[in-house]
Amino acid sequence: MRIVIAGATGSVGRALIRLARGRGLHTVALGRDATRLAGAGADECRAVDFGDLAALRACIAPQDVVFSALGASASPSPFMGRKRYRDVDVPLNRALVEAAVTAKAARFQYVSLAFGRDLRQYAFADAHEQVVDAVVASGLPYTILRPTGIFSTFRRLWGFARLGVFPIPGNPGCKSNPIHEDDIASNALDHLQGESLQLEMGGPDILTRREIGLLMCRAAGWKHGATLRMPNWFHLFNAHLLGVISPRVLDMLRFYLAISVFDNVAPIAGQRRLVDYYAQAATQKPGILDGLHRSGW
Ligand SMILES: NC(=O)c1ccc[n+]([C@@H]2O[C@H](COP(=O)([O-])OP(=O)(O)OC[C@H]3O[C@@H](n4cnc5c(N)ncnc54)[C@H](OP(=O)(O)O)[C@@H]3O)[C@@H](O)[C@H]2O)c1
Repeated sequence: MRIVIAGATGSVGRALIRLARGRGLHTVALGRDATRLAGAGADECRAVDFGDLAALRACIAPQDVVFSALGASASPSPFMGRKRYRDVDVPLNRALVEAAVTAKAARFQYVSLAFGRDLRQYAFADAHEQVVDAVVASGLPYTILRPTGIFSTFRRLWGFARLGVFPIPGNPGCKSNPIHEDDIASNALDHLQGESLQLEMGGPDILTRREIGLLMCRAAGWKHGATLRMPNWFHLFNAHLLGVISPRVLDMLRFYLAISVFDNVAPIAGQRRLVDYYAQAATQKPGILDGLHRSGW
């Protein structure tokens, strides 16, 4: 079986390629940058313009599974793209769905987010849900993966952990169970066939936002790190300031606040633990800004 992966250079895409190859699947990685694609470890790489339907169509063969983790970055760095989620995730993934239909693909798999349907008033969630709507309407069998926070996202906040003070907007007592990118990929590979389905998924540990912050501070070498409750107005003030440079970051930080005021806990579908992830990652001694700008440390 062949699996065609869009978003192949991102954290989930790269995990999917590694695990799919481990299961004997033939992987075809799609992306916009040939150099980054070459590092994704797939059997085949195709640098492609996602706006070019014919080029996309040529990458997909009948009975392929098409997997997409393609989306504008979730990094709070304003230097990781200005374009809003609705202007990246929606048109590019819609084109991919259309190409998959025309090519008679066997299935479409897409990474959306837990609670996305309830949070459509936030641009980040709505962009993902617009893609879900297109996948469902396509008539292809599908798997929609709906993770809580992906471990790789917390890497973006590593700089604060290095300073020993981890700021938290919303309610530091609210809980979530973030999930490892490998566990998302593994769930996708377990559902390459069968009925269409949408899977809400989280990791094994249900942690408060304060506990996550302290865990990161400890991994960064602060035995007695601290968390700092950031007033919502201050968070939004900064979000608007950064939004002048990148409207995408404004969308992201509004969403981040929205999920920081309720218990964002999904059914446990992963085994890998955040504490181990950080302990392992910290051995690579990432710098303060590492993690902000690319998904790999
Ligand atoms: N952050 C979270 O906690 C969270 C939670 C639930 C769901 N999600 C969603 O899950 C999905 C996968 O997450 P992830 O961590 O794997 O994301 P990621 O590491 O940021 O990877 C995103 C991928 O999309 C590609 N991409 C972005 N803009 C593009 C463009 N204009 N043209 C072509 N390719 C483009 C990137 O390619 P380049 O390498 O070329 O940039 C990369 O391969 C995303 O949609 C994300 O929003 C995130």
